[in-house]
Amino acid sequence: MIALGCDHGGFELMQEVKKHLKERGLEFKDFGTDSTASCDYPVYAKAVAKAVQSGECEKGILICGTGIGISITANKFKGIRCALCHDCFSAEATRLHNDANVLAMGGRVVGPGLALKIVDTFLDTPFSEEERHKRRIAMIDEK
Ligand code: RB5
Repeated sequence: MIALGCDHGGFELMQEVKKHLKERGLEFKDFGTDSTASCDYPVYAKAVAKAVQSGECEKGILICGTGIGISITANKFKGIRCALCHDCFSAEATRLHNDANVLAMGGRVVGPGLALKIVDTFLDTPFSEEERHKRRIAMIDEK
């Protein structure tokens, strides 16, 4: 199950993402927003972060205007590794190296063609399971 969340700046791109996930037969839970009316991105970032943190959803996708506010918010949650990606190289690397569990994008930054490739790369790339990457991920939560 994939948790989805966006604000008004990401709403249109999120509709493309939802259509794409449906075409791929992938299940998702949509935490909103549900229109282009102005709203507050932390509401949706928190809902997705909590769904992934609790295990209700395996992964999350967040979209705001830039992807920045929504990723900053999600990364406040322990165990959430939210990666802001606007290219496929980063989307692949963050799965292989960081085991990122939430993808953030900016709906005002990337068009749907690239965004859907980024989504596919993020969802289809497994974590490398390499020891050095496991060690570094464990270090993130150390004080
Ligand atoms: C909303 O105008 C915009 O600030 C928001 O979508 C996001 O880009 C914040 O980081």
